[in-house]
Amino acid sequence: MTVLGVGVDVVRTSRFAEILKRSPTILDRISKRILHPVEHTNYQSSSQARQLQILASTWAVKEATFKSLSIGDQRRFKFAEWRRVNRLHGYEMIQTILQPQENDKPSVIKEVIREDRILVSTSHDGDYTIANALRQTTLNNVA
Ligand SMILES: CC(C)(COP(=O)(O)OP(=O)(O)OC[C@H]1O[C@@H](n2cnc3c(N)ncnc32)[C@H](O)[C@@H]1OP(=O)(O)O)[C@@H](O)C(=O)NCCC(=O)NCCS
Repeated sequence: MTVLGVGVDVVRTSRFAEILKRSPTILDRISKRILHPVEHTNYQSSSQARQLQILASTWAVKEATFKSLSIGDQRRFKFAEWRRVNRLHGYEMIQTILQPQENDKPSVIKEVIREDRILVSTSHDGDYTIANALRQTTLNNVA
């Protein structure tokens, strides 16, 4: 496996609590922009404290993913098109194509078949959440 890119991000969880205090409507809008529809369903059924942690983790992991991408993929990057999944080899980011809908809730069209795999790891301590992303090729002998 060849490493193609790395990314890291650190975020203050309370950043999202501060937005919630100012305006639940703005936080709601941000949640729809950051979270994949599958992640958003999980978010909606979570307690408020867990929702803030979900936003912080998801933000960090997607910023780290963004940094690990090629310039071309960075230009096309949309937070809501990516989600974290638990695989046998650890947490991985997968990309989907979404169809925007009038009710503001996009539907998932299909998973993108990529030639790279993005492994991610997160950690929390107090108010801080950190995420790392390691992008590697799934092909052999790629320089
Ligand atoms: C570029 C970006 C990732 C920087 O993140 P940030 O939270 O502002 O700043 P951070 O402290 O996490 O990161 C800064 C570091 O990122 C690195 N960096 C900057 N641009 C980068 C890029 N395009 N790719 C990879 N790494 C980058 C730099 O090394 C910089 O550190 P330095 O000042 O020591 O050189 C971010 O501003 C961005 O553009 N994200 C795009 C995703 C997006 O669209 N977000 C909103 C969607 S709702």
